[in-house]
Amino acid sequence: MAKEIIVRPARNLSGSIRLPGDKSISHRYAMLGAIADGTTTLENFSTGADCASTLGCLKALGVTWERKANRVLIHGHGPKLQPPSAPLDCGNSGSTMRMLSGILAGQQFASALAGDESLSRRPMARVIAPLEMMGARISAADGAKPPLRISGGRLRAIDYKLPVASAQVKTAVLFAGLFASGETRVEEPVRTRDHGELALRAFGAEVKQKGNEVRIMGSHKLHAIEATVPGDLSSAAFFLCAAALFPGSQLILSHLGMNPTRSFLLDLLAGMGLRISVTQLEETHGELVGTVQANGGELRGATIQNPQTATLIDEIPVLAAIAPYTTDGIEIRDARELRVKESDRIAAMATNLQTMGAVVEEREDGLKILGGQTLRGAEIDSQGDHRIAMAFAIAALRAEGETLIRGADAAVISYPGFFEVLDSVVER
Ligand code: S3P
Repeated sequence: MAKEIIVRPARNLSGSIRLPGDKSISHRYAMLGAIADGTTTLENFSTGADCASTLGCLKALGVTWERKANRVLIHGHGPKLQPPSAPLDCGNSGSTMRMLSGILAGQQFASALAGDESLSRRPMARVIAPLEMMGARISAADGAKPPLRISGGRLRAIDYKLPVASAQVKTAVLFAGLFASGETRVEEPVRTRDHGELALRAFGAEVKQKGNEVRIMGSHKLHAIEATVPGDLSSAAFFLCAAALFPGSQLILSHLGMNPTRSFLLDLLAGMGLRISVTQLEETHGELVGTVQANGGELRGATIQNPQTATLIDEIPVLAAIAPYTTDGIEIRDARELRVKESDRIAAMATNLQTMGAVVEEREDGLKILGGQTLRGAEIDSQGDHRIAMAFAIAALRAEGETLIRGADAAVISYPGFFEVLDSVVER
């Protein structure tokens, strides 16, 4: 993919798209398939480089799998994996490093996990603390940053209150809970995506959920599953927000994941004026899937704060990108976590929006972006962050003049075909 891409303004958006498989679900199904008995078949597996990092790590742990286009077959190795001969390469993927740590904590060997420059800056104390309480020994670089070295072994069940809302950490503790004797209990400050809980149940684990609390029974055998991964709503967000920019737009997104812990974006955009209807709703392995039809209308503003911020966390960059074009602007609060994503997304959004001429107030835990603004095409830097690259492709559609996105190739992390698909639904 080209490192630099020029995006020209659009007149409208129209067409039909099927999104690649959800990244969060693909990681979890692959990891659980690896420690299950039998062969797991996954259709519409995420095409993103992040999920390929997970598959690469699993291979290094002795798991065999085959991939033909978006179909992945994972030959379950059972709960005991093989010691890797080199540090596991998690690439850019925080999900790989954090969630796999939960499984490695329960292995009778030592392993190391490393990542790229961006991942090497990301906080890992949040996953180290609970896994050490369970009995693993973990060392990290200064500031609890990667690389991690995990000496696993027999684990004990814990009762853990997460200090930060993180579905990755919740999932890591639940995965470790599989290897502990007794019941592990996790409580989160706000409810985050529950793909881990649903996937564990689909693979045969005993998981109970009530309010913000999840419990898992240890020492359970997992069995393989056959699944089609729902389309990724966080990738769909770029197209839905693009559709929201043009009153005449008509977009159909089929086989889209609509898990209620992820789908607040649809309610938010509907409240802002996008006309949305959902058909063909069905449930697969506990995950809701449906077809979304979106028609552009007005574009009012919104205030996003917890608990919504936590559930919208990956969609905030693109919401910020369309904010100047809304009538009332968008205010984002309680979003400090965005500073420790693949980039400091609050700073990246503020800087790039300002480069396009927008008035933006950057706050420690969010952004306030005024509505009714006219943006001009400019040179944007993705800062190597996939969601920043894609968000500014959307902002560019309503700007005056062309926008050059540097580091556009970062999109491969979650959505390799993004720019081509965008071109196919944009009318100029
Ligand atoms: C994810 C959880 C979120 C999200 C990330 C995927 C997951 O991260 O931003 O893209 O699959 O559990 P945190 O757990 O750090 O909030």
